[in-house]
Amino acid sequence: MLTKSQAKLFFLAGTVIFSVLFLGLSIDTHLNRVGEQTHEENITEGVIAGKHLWEENNCMGCHTIMGEGAYYAPELTKVVERRGVPYIKGVLMSPTPWGEHTSGRKMVAYGFSDEEANNLVEYLTWIGNIDLNGFPAKPQYKVEKNN
Ligand code: HEC
Repeated sequence: MLTKSQAKLFFLAGTVIFSVLFLGLSIDTHLNRVGEQTHEENITEGVIAGKHLWEENNCMGCHTIMGEGAYYAPELTKVVERRGVPYIKGVLMSPTPWGEHTSGRKMVAYGFSDEEANNLVEYLTWIGNIDLNGFPAKPQYKVEKNN
């Protein structure tokens, strides 16, 4: 059993140690990890222009990136890897609301120019290369064994 003063010391020492640890890790995250994991050296003019288009057109009103946004339309963090550039440009430049599902949900027909679509693709490519510690998780499909 701890005495009252031992319990006090235990509480204070624990609080101090974990506060210092928390502050140290937070500082490390901001000074080192964010730049490294986001590959900030790859932020080009195109990526920035794409990010502005992303904001101005409220893509997050329907989509998510890194899980942030609305859950109406597909998650776009790894969309470049999943769909490839020509497909994405087709969706972004389509003059008619694009959709392949019977749910009735359609992508907005923004009719972006080639340059705008390229900027958005550059932005989505940069997003897709961020080291997110494994997010989004890849689905574990059941593998059938061939006997
Ligand atoms: C009003 C809702 C809405 C908004 C706003 C919206 N989208 Fe979409 N988008 C959709 C829906 C719904 C789909 C899926 C259509 C389908 O698969 O049939 C889609 C599909 C896509 C796809 C293909 C995704 C895939 O995995 O097939 C991309 C890329 C995309 N949108 C990018 C954007 C960008 C960039 C913006 C902003 C400039 C944007 N969207 C704004 C509804 C929206």
